[in-house]
Amino acid sequence: MSYQNNRIADVAEQLKSRFDELENKADILRATELRALYAEIPTLPAQERAEFGKEINQLKSELETLVAEHQEQTEALPPIDITAPFDVNTPVDKRPKLLDATHGSKHPLMTELDEVLDIFYRMGFTAVESRQLDDDYHMFGSLNFPEGHPARDDYDTFMTVETDEKGKQYIAPAHTSTMQNRVLQKYKANLEEGRPIAAVIPGRVFRNEDLDARHEHTFYQLEGVYVDKGIHAGHLIATLKTFLQEYYQQELEVKTQPFYFPFTEPSFEFALSCPFCKKQGCHICSQTGWIELLGCGLIHPNVLQMAGIDPKEYTGFAWGGGIDRLVMMKHSIEDVRHFESGKLEFLKQFSN
Ligand code: DAH
Repeated sequence: MSYQNNRIADVAEQLKSRFDELENKADILRATELRALYAEIPTLPAQERAEFGKEINQLKSELETLVAEHQEQTEALPPIDITAPFDVNTPVDKRPKLLDATHGSKHPLMTELDEVLDIFYRMGFTAVESRQLDDDYHMFGSLNFPEGHPARDDYDTFMTVETDEKGKQYIAPAHTSTMQNRVLQKYKANLEEGRPIAAVIPGRVFRNEDLDARHEHTFYQLEGVYVDKGIHAGHLIATLKTFLQEYYQQELEVKTQPFYFPFTEPSFEFALSCPFCKKQGCHICSQTGWIELLGCGLIHPNVLQMAGIDPKEYTGFAWGGGIDRLVMMKHSIEDVRHFESGKLEFLKQFSN
């Protein structure tokens, strides 16, 4: 809009450029410059008053339109009661307003998972997704945790009230290792055809943890399983090192130290040299130069046997580690709880 009167045109210019910076946009309607223009009307010669007044009113209504448009854009959508889905017969304009697909974006964990899987595909692995509810046999029995074994207590699992046909409660899996037996069975025909079993298993896992910046009750893991003739710990270490160097796009050192898992023998804890400080010590590696990343080992003969694979003929390795941790390190995310928070301020930083 243009104004004949120079002073009104100047004020219009000033107020419009101030508008963007204002926190409360309606304040523009109370600007001193605007009031001063109104106060001037009675002091003007009678023949100029009408024209001057009309232009100020025009300016005011232009500003009012700006305020109204802004309000429309930022108005929050009414909260949706997700426990009461709308009836499909409800007319479109009466349905709850949902964000449309163009306002959504991929969760950072899923973006990163795609990248991780892509590296493993290129290394010849296939991917199988784990499940979000499992049973006692897959959580413990098939992984060589005998009934009543104290190592079962290392996993604070969530359980259902309902029980399976053996009278055992169902379990929200506390690790992706629950899938080992299924994957071994599914691909064991490969071995007879002279091909290895090579699978990665991403999945959502659940633990009854005390929550803090490093512990969340719900997180993601990536399991890996590889079986063939003559497989040893060197293959395990080389596979993980190759993956990590590709993921962090740099040469890394890795090290293992002995650990205990019932489903591997020997078992290791696997660490990599800190990709951020090159072993100098920084806040990401707690000044140690090393990052403990995951558990791994050579698959226990009993685990192979339970899946119908002869441990005298075949050996294999497996690992399992948190995906959240990898992503936190990559993007300097300081608190794991952001991932499940559903906070748009956090998620929007990763949308493109
Ligand atoms: N399931 C273990 C955990 O979450 C991690 C793990 C250790 C997975 C050794 C493996 C393995 O496959 O071989 O605590």
